[in-house]
Amino acid sequence: MRNLADSGMEIRRLTGLDPGQLSRLVRYGRESLGDAAPDEWMLPVIAAFGYLFVGRIDGTIAGSAQVFRCRQEGDLYMDAFYIRPDRRRRGMGRAMLEGVMEHLSLEGYHRLLVTAAPGNREATALYETAGFGEVEVLEDFYGAGRQRLLLAAPLTGGGGR
Ligand SMILES: CC(C)(COP(=O)(O)OP(=O)(O)OC[C@H]1O[C@@H](n2cnc3c(N)ncnc32)[C@H](O)[C@@H]1OP(=O)(O)O)[C@@H](O)C(=O)NCCC(=O)NCCS
Repeated sequence: MRNLADSGMEIRRLTGLDPGQLSRLVRYGRESLGDAAPDEWMLPVIAAFGYLFVGRIDGTIAGSAQVFRCRQEGDLYMDAFYIRPDRRRRGMGRAMLEGVMEHLSLEGYHRLLVTAAPGNREATALYETAGFGEVEVLEDFYGAGRQRLLLAAPLTGGGGR
C-alpha cells in the first residue's frame, strides 16, 4: 500500500488473516500492550469489518494498529497501536501513524480519535507531533482510577464522508 522510504516501513491494510498471521499478531500485541492487546477473537473481526494495519520491515511485522468507525459521522477511533519493543525509537511509530492517517484521509474520513494513558509519554509525544490535540480527560475510563486522555487529529485531504 505505501512504502515509507525514511523508515523502510511498508504499511498494509489486512482484510483477512491466515492462521500464522493471527498467532503472530496475538503474540506481538501481548508483548507491547499486555492485557490490552486484541486477541484471536477480536483481530479477525477488525480485519474483516474495520481496519487492521500492519507496518512491515523486510516482510516482517514491526507494528500494528486497528481502527473502527465511531457513531459520529466522519470520525474514526484508533486502538492497539504499537511498534514491537526491539524496533522502537527508529522512526517507525511516526511512519506508521502518518501512513495510517494518510490512508484514512484518502478514504474520506475527517477525524481520528485515540486515547492514551496520561503517563504514556512516548505515545502522547508522538500524537502531539502528528497533529493530535487533547479533547478531554476521561475519568475511570478503564475502571476506577484508570484515566485516559482523549485526543483527536484532523484527517486532511479527505474527499468528505
Ligand atoms: C508509542 C510507540 C508506538 C512509538 O513508536 P516508536 O517507533 O518508538 O516511535 P518513533 O521512533 O517513530 O518516535 C516518534 C516520536 O515519538 C516520541 N517518542 C517515542 N519514544 C519516546 C520516548 N521513549 N520518550 C519520549 N518520546 C518518545 C517522540 O516524540 C518521537 O519523536 P523524536 O524521535 O523526534 O523525538 C511505541 O513506543 C510503542 O509501541 N509503545 C507501546 C504501545 C503504546 O503505548 N501504544 C500507544 C497506545 S495509546
